[in-house]
Amino acid sequence: MPPPKRYSHNMVKIGQIELPDFPLLLAPMEDVSDPPFRAVCKDNGADLMYTEFISSEGLIRDAIKSRQKLDIFDYERPVGIQIFGGDEEAMAMSAKIVETVNPDLVDINFGCPVKKVVSKGAGAGVLKDVDLMVRLTEAVVKSTRLPVTVKTRLGWDDSTKNIEEVAERLQDCGIKALAIHGRTRSQMYKGEADWSLIAKVKNNPRIQMPIFGNGDIDSPQKALEYKNRFGIDGIMIGRAAIGYPWIFREIKHYIATGELLAPPTLEERVEVCRKHLRKSLEWKGPIAGINEMRRHYANYLKGLPNIKDYRNRLVTLKTMEEVEEVLDEVKINYSGFTIERTPIELINYHEKCPV
Ligand SMILES: Cc1cc2nc3c(=O)[nH]c(=O)nc-3n(C[C@H](O)[C@H](O)[C@H](O)COP(=O)(O)O)c2cc1C
Repeated sequence: MPPPKRYSHNMVKIGQIELPDFPLLLAPMEDVSDPPFRAVCKDNGADLMYTEFISSEGLIRDAIKSRQKLDIFDYERPVGIQIFGGDEEAMAMSAKIVETVNPDLVDINFGCPVKKVVSKGAGAGVLKDVDLMVRLTEAVVKSTRLPVTVKTRLGWDDSTKNIEEVAERLQDCGIKALAIHGRTRSQMYKGEADWSLIAKVKNNPRIQMPIFGNGDIDSPQKALEYKNRFGIDGIMIGRAAIGYPWIFREIKHYIATGELLAPPTLEERVEVCRKHLRKSLEWKGPIAGINEMRRHYANYLKGLPNIKDYRNRLVTLKTMEEVEEVLDEVKINYSGFTIERTPIELINYHEKCPV
């Protein structure tokens, strides 16, 4: 008989999924958290990752774009697939479709603040109707054997921050973990995320499931400070990982040692960007792969002096060979250059981003 498994005291469990003490999660991000990006985040220490959100209606209609978002790979595990929708039957059916590709969990999005989603009673729209939120969650939990988790916000607006009630009721439905973005729907991305209510949920003695905090983590120091101040089970990171997947390993190192890890070398930046590019072409094909990679170069190369000309070339070239040549040039011309670590700029996606 194999010896019994020994767990560290603070291992975090989502159903049967075992995560290390204080896991770091890659947030679901539309048009960002795709397999190529997830691959480089995984390499750098993300403990649990999610797909970008997938419309339940789209999945049922068999929309190609929705189906493609179901692609997951074994090296990513544990990985969750996130769905959204405002109709119980559609959510139940799409959870069944999700199950066929065998992810480690299904996550429900109750946090998306954009009008086109909210107006259908989906995303953060349900924060105004907790009964509907409960029914949608029950429908998903009943339709799948996979662990179900939820990601949501503090509430609809300043006067209706109902996350404490929401957390209890969702736990009673059988969800296995809750990730909370410390803003309300009406805040969109404005102001600062408020983690004090997230801490209150975590400290509620009725709450047994893991609670993950999300919002505005942009440095190892802030991650450790929030870990200590708010007592959450783990942190979910979104924008700070865009073009900077090293954030995960930097936070882990800082939490473990109290020391800041040296920033990635220029060579490493270029090689990770190259891997992202190659994965992007592998997964999306030569045209979409090149086009969709364009949004990432500026982030990977941020902080290099006089980089504009290279950047402009990278976003106009049409083949992988051409892009790789420019990356080689950058590597040679900036060899040995160190980009000092500055706090990562968290773009306000209120207008630029759909979610
Ligand atoms: C480009 C972009 C796309 C996003 N798409 C999703 C999504 O598909 N599902 C979701 O639950 N949240 C989505 N979000 C919200 C993030 O998961 C996260 O809650 C938010 O960015 C706050 O975390 P951060 O401050 O670490 O970025 C998105 C955010 C961004 C910036």
